[in-house]
Amino acid sequence: MALQRLLPASLFAATVLGAAHPMITPAPSLEARQIAERGLDDYASYAKSLLGSLGSDVSSYVISGVPQYFQDFPTGDKVESSLGIDDSQLAALPTQVLNLPAYANWTDQGWNVRVHGNVYKQPNTNESKLNDLANVFLIGTSIDQLQPSEQDQARNLTAEIFVVQQRDVNVTMNFRTGVDVRPDASGGVVNAKGGNQSITLPYPTTDEGDFDTFIILKNTTGVTSNTTGTDGGYLLPGNETSSIQALNMYANGSEIGNATAYLVPPTGFTIVNDIDDILRITKIYEPKEGLLNSFARAFTPWQDMPEIYANWSATIPDFHFHYLTTTPEQVTRNYMDFIFKTYPLGSFDTRPLNFSDVSATLSIRKFLLDKIFQTFPQRKFVLMADTSNSDVMKDYPQMVKDYPGQVQCIFLRNTTATDSGDLFPYDTSGFKGIDQEKYMFFVNADDLRDVDIVGGNCWNKAVKQNVTFEYQGRGFGNSASGAVSWNPYMLGAALILAMVQFAPFVPSWALGL
Ligand SMILES: *[C@@H]1O[C@H](CO)[C@@H](O)[C@H](O)[C@H]1NC(C)=O
Ligand SMILES: *[C@@H]1O[C@H](CO)[C@@H](O)[C@H](O)[C@H]1NC(C)=O
Ligand SMILES: *[C@@H]1O[C@H](CO)[C@@H](O)[C@H](O)[C@H]1NC(C)=O
Ligand SMILES: *[C@@H]1O[C@H](CO)[C@@H](O)[C@H](O)[C@H]1NC(C)=O
Ligand SMILES: *[C@@H]1O[C@H](CO)[C@@H](O)[C@H](O)[C@H]1NC(C)=O
Ligand SMILES: *[C@@H]1O[C@H](CO)[C@@H](O)[C@H](O)[C@H]1NC(C)=O
Ligand SMILES: *[C@@H]1O[C@H](CO)[C@@H](O)[C@H](O)[C@H]1NC(C)=O
Ligand SMILES: *[C@@H]1O[C@H](CO)[C@@H](O)[C@H](O)[C@H]1NC(C)=O
Ligand SMILES: *[C@@H]1O[C@H](CO)[C@@H](O)[C@H](O)[C@H]1NC(C)=O
Ligand SMILES: *[C@@H]1O[C@H](CO)[C@@H](O)[C@H](O)[C@H]1NC(C)=O
Ligand SMILES: *[C@@H]1O[C@H](CO)[C@@H](O)[C@H](O)[C@H]1NC(C)=O
Ligand SMILES: *[C@@H]1O[C@H](CO)[C@@H](O)[C@H](O)[C@H]1NC(C)=O
Repeated sequence: MALQRLLPASLFAATVLGAAHPMITPAPSLEARQIAERGLDDYASYAKSLLGSLGSDVSSYVISGVPQYFQDFPTGDKVESSLGIDDSQLAALPTQVLNLPAYANWTDQGWNVRVHGNVYKQPNTNESKLNDLANVFLIGTSIDQLQPSEQDQARNLTAEIFVVQQRDVNVTMNFRTGVDVRPDASGGVVNAKGGNQSITLPYPTTDEGDFDTFIILKNTTGVTSNTTGTDGGYLLPGNETSSIQALNMYANGSEIGNATAYLVPPTGFTIVNDIDDILRITKIYEPKEGLLNSFARAFTPWQDMPEIYANWSATIPDFHFHYLTTTPEQVTRNYMDFIFKTYPLGSFDTRPLNFSDVSATLSIRKFLLDKIFQTFPQRKFVLMADTSNSDVMKDYPQMVKDYPGQVQCIFLRNTTATDSGDLFPYDTSGFKGIDQEKYMFFVNADDLRDVDIVGGNCWNKAVKQNVTFEYQGRGFGNSASGAVSWNPYMLGAALILAMVQFAPFVPSWALGL
């Protein structure tokens, strides 16, 4: 998933609260912080007392299953007031563009690129202020207790969150040849030989500073002259190449908005990758660890996934890598920075700001999956994630039903199998009726070595599949050996505990921290 893990809302409501209550109510109060800091030692009695104390004012964020983790980031005026800056100070700052690596499909009109990102201003926030703001994101620790490199990371992420989005801005995107393509690390990507041009997007940015639109590239040349004196070439049509062509793209007037556009032919294989707890260690299901792994520690790959991916990139012809995480847009740069140092180059999707309310957060993954499937109706997709995302558990098998023949493989890391700290239940019922050759729940990255993606044999027979199509996880009688057996009441309490640990930082900017 991205950094929001979802509870099975109906299960929660039925077993714990007795009734569903989808309305949005205020988030839990700051008092929850003291409770959470008591730690997990006296866990059972704590969970019980917590449950008893939950009145009708329990946040519906908890009820709907979206933790306040990376939820409700401050925007606009709230950033200005938190940082104590005014409009004139803001006006003096340069405009920046977050430009996400794009994919393009081949159409009758030419290459059709999906340009998406965000326009914002980055206030110059001093270190002491950033420290104060960063502390809000840390549970049971504070920035002065971290290593210097961890402090930098925490300040960096905090600075990225406290930006002011710019609405109603016209964005001009420049496309230029000359991408630095790494051999064998880019999934069959070649440099486009042409396509230099500047295009102003048809719509200005949204209220949240976002832009997301398809534009048609003109078939221009790349280089007008070179040392041998003649032209450098043109874009290849999508129906005459199987290679993925790469073009630089950067926004006018922004020094840091550089990205790459991938022109992806109509047929071939695309892998859609979730990031947290599959390509990197996040442990989102352990809130304190999840926050440290996101806000303080350097991003670390999970097991030998980089080697598995490098191998796929080198052996599967013209494999298109697409990274799709529901982590909020504001922290995209840190994800891209890690991914492109560690995994094959590819296009990217994160959660845009106008998808930040609860129901939209729950639907964003499906929205982004539908978009890429519809853009490449003839390509076959490999879907990669882990079991700790309830949206993945629902959406991935649904893609098999909604787009017959387009899902080649689904791979899900079983996080419960390796992490005793994972208390999140997950629902496998969506997989009922899907051919077992098409999917695999796996335990270690090495389990992926013997799968045959191109041949459609996605289940490595050495990995036992004992999937029952219902809720799984601790408390459902199928926990890893040695684990406590939970009853649904306890489970519900544990999940609320996990959720309220996120509560402390939510109201902070609302209170003008
Ligand atoms: C840092 O910035 C804040 C306003 O955001 C200001 O109140 C504070 O005095 C500044 N601290 C230093 C050391 O400059
Ligand atoms: C490729 O597509 C273009 C535009 O649709 C068409 O004009 C051209 O004939 C096609 N080429 C081949 C080899 O099918
Ligand atoms: C954006 O471009 C449109 C069309 O060219 C123009 O009408 C509008 O005034 C521009 N908006 C801004 C904020 O520059
Ligand atoms: C296209 O962009 C490349 C890289 O910036 C540059 O070297 C080349 O001269 C450009 N060609 C044209 C026709 O603008
Ligand atoms: C220069 O142009 C010639 C003729 O189109 C081409 O063969 C050659 O590869 C080009 N050189 C570079 C460095 O792009
Ligand atoms: C662009 O134009 C060149 C030269 O006419 C042609 O060879 C090439 O197929 C065209 N590419 C696209 C994408 O239309
Ligand atoms: C965007 O940048 C290009 C290249 O620097 C320039 O030619 C063009 O005029 C700029 N367009 C706008 C709308 O700023
Ligand atoms: C972005 O691309 C432009 C044009 O190629 C270049 O001038 C600029 O240095 C690049 N910025 C970064 C951060 O790579
Ligand atoms: C934070 O780190 C990322 C990745 O290293 C970098 O791209 C970004 O510019 C940094 N952001 C700030 C606000 O320092
Ligand atoms: C290209 O992508 C657009 C946007 O998703 C889609 O509407 C269109 O049908 C696609 N075209 C082709 C030929 O697949
Ligand atoms: C995940 O691992 C746990 C512990 O080994 C096991 O009980 C469960 O059945 C596995 N789930 C799936 C879907 O394979
Ligand atoms: C798990 O599945 C294997 C076959 O894949 C089977 O031999 C074994 O009996 C199953 N175990 C359980 C506990 O169902």
